[in-house]
Amino acid sequence: MTDKTQWIHDELEGLRQSGLFNTIRTLGSPQGAWLVVDGQRVLNFCSNNYLGLANHPRLIEAARRALDAYGVGPAAVRSIAGTTEPHLELERRLAAFKGVEAAITFQSGFNANLGTIPALVGKEDVIYSDELNHASIIDGSRLAGATIVRYGHADPEDLARTIEANRDKGYRRSLIITDGVFSMDGDVAPLDRIYDVARRHDFLLMVDDAHGEACSGAAGAASSITSVCMARSTSRSGRYRKPSASSAAWPPGSRSSSTGCVSAPGRSCFPRP
Ligand SMILES: Cc1ncc(COP(=O)(O)O)c(C=O)c1O
Repeated sequence: MTDKTQWIHDELEGLRQSGLFNTIRTLGSPQGAWLVVDGQRVLNFCSNNYLGLANHPRLIEAARRALDAYGVGPAAVRSIAGTTEPHLELERRLAAFKGVEAAITFQSGFNANLGTIPALVGKEDVIYSDELNHASIIDGSRLAGATIVRYGHADPEDLARTIEANRDKGYRRSLIITDGVFSMDGDVAPLDRIYDVARRHDFLLMVDDAHGEACSGAAGAASSITSVCMARSTSRSGRYRKPSASSAAWPPGSRSSSTGCVSAPGRSCFPRP
C-alpha cells in the first residue's frame, strides 16, 4: 500500500533543502530585551512588545483578578457562549481610546483581517491594495472574493492612476487597504495623501496599523495589539490596530461595522449585543 502522506514529507524536505523551512522557536523566558530561546540567552529583535506591557505589573495583576473571577477561559468561542463582561469592557475602552462608537476584538491580526475585509467587500467589489501589504491582508482579501488590484508601494499617485484605470469596470464598492507602519521595512504609509484619494473617490479606506497603534501618532499608549482602522472616507478616517501585550487585534468603527465584522455567515464571528 502506498503512503498517501509521503508527499508531505517530500515537500517538507524540499523546503529544508531550499532553506525555506520555518523553524518555530521555543521561548523559555518572559518577554524582554533578552530572552531564552531554545535554551540559549539571546537578544530580542523580533517582538511586538514595543512598550513593554507584556509583563507590566498592573496587567499581570488584572489578569490574576480575571483568572480568579472567570477561570482560564470561557470554554466556548464568543459566538456560542464565550463572551464575558471583560471582553465587552475591553471593547468599550478600545472604542473610547479611538474615539469611535464601537470596537471588536479578535484573537490575532490575522483573524482580524479575515473577519473584517470580507465584512466590507465581496465578489462584486474591488480592493486596491498596497503591493507590500501584510500577508494576512492578502488572505482576508482573497477570502472576501473581491477583485484585488495592487498599487505601487506607499505611492498615492500610483493608487490614483490605478483607480482611474479601473473606474469603468462597474464595481459595486471599492476599498483601499494599506498597512500603517509596514511590517517588513518599518516605513510609514503616506496616510494623509491616501486618505485624500479615498475621499475624492468616496471609497472605503482601511489602515492596518498593527505596528503603529499607540507607538506612532498622537495617541501614545501601549502597543503590541494590532489595530486596524477603517472608516467611510466621506465621513471620517479610521484605523484598526493591534494594541496589547498579548496577541489580539481590534477593528474600531461604527457599531454596525463592528457587528458586520463578525455576524455574516461563514465569518469568524461573534455577534455583539
Ligand atoms: C500589518 C500587520 N497586519 C497583521 C498582522 C498579523 O498579526 P498577527 O501576528 O497578530 O496575526 C501583522 C503581523 O505582524 C502585521 O504586521
